[in-house]
Amino acid sequence: MARRKVAVLISGRGSNLAALIAACAAPDFPAQIALVVANRADAAGLAHATRAGIPTRVIPHRDYAARADFDAALDRALQAAGIELVCLAGFMRLLGDAFVERWRDRMINIHPSLLPAFRGLDTHARALAAGVRVHGCTVHFVRPAMDAGPVIVQAAVPVRPGDDAERLAARVLAAEHEAYPLALRLVAAGAARVEGERVVLAGPPPVPRAAVPGTVAAPVVIWRGDAD
Ligand code: GRF
Repeated sequence: MARRKVAVLISGRGSNLAALIAACAAPDFPAQIALVVANRADAAGLAHATRAGIPTRVIPHRDYAARADFDAALDRALQAAGIELVCLAGFMRLLGDAFVERWRDRMINIHPSLLPAFRGLDTHARALAAGVRVHGCTVHFVRPAMDAGPVIVQAAVPVRPGDDAERLAARVLAAEHEAYPLALRLVAAGAARVEGERVVLAGPPPVPRAAVPGTVAAPVVIWRGDAD
C-alpha cells in the first residue's frame, strides 16, 4: 500500500501530533508522517517527532519580515520532503491566501469547537458562556478564512454541570485525538473528497472501531457519551 506523505505543522504541546504518530504506526494506515515543522524552536511537541524518528524542521516566523516569505520557506521545506498532505495541529500562525490556495484540499486543520460555532480562540470558555449543551472539535479542509472550510470529521462531547474551561478542554482534547486520525485516514485513503465545498465520503469509509468505551464511531461524527 502506498502511504501518502504527510507533514504536521505545530507550535506547541503537540498532543494531536502524538495521536497522529500513533495512528500512522498501524500497518494499514494510508499515511506516513514524513516531516514535522514548528514555527517555534521551543515547541514541546517536537520531542514526539524526534522520539519517533521523524525529521523535524524549525522555521521561526520571526526570521521573516513578510508573511509571504515565511510561507515560501515553509512551502520549500514541504516540497523538499515530497509532502502530499499537510496537517495543521495547533499551528498558531495564519498562513497567507496564496499558500492556502496552493495546498487547497491537501491541507487540513483541527479546531476545538463544532464549527461553524466558536471560530478563533478561547473556544471552551466561550462555549460555557454561551450555555451550549454539546461542544466538540472539527477537522476541516483549510480555506483562506480562519477556521473555515469543508468539514471532514466532527466529534461531539457533552457539556457537564460544573464544567470549567479546563475540564471541558480536556474532554474535547480526548475527542480530538480520535477525530484527527480518523480524518487523516479518510483523506489519505481518498475517501473524503470536496464537492461543492462539502465533503463527500466515497465508498465504504475505512472507519476504525471506537477505542474508547462509551464512544460510538460513525463516518463523520463521534459521540462521546459517558466516557470522560
Ligand atoms: C488543540 O486544541 C487544537 O484543536 C487547537 O490547538 C490545540 C493544539 O493542541 N488547534 P496540541 O498541541 O495538539 O496538544
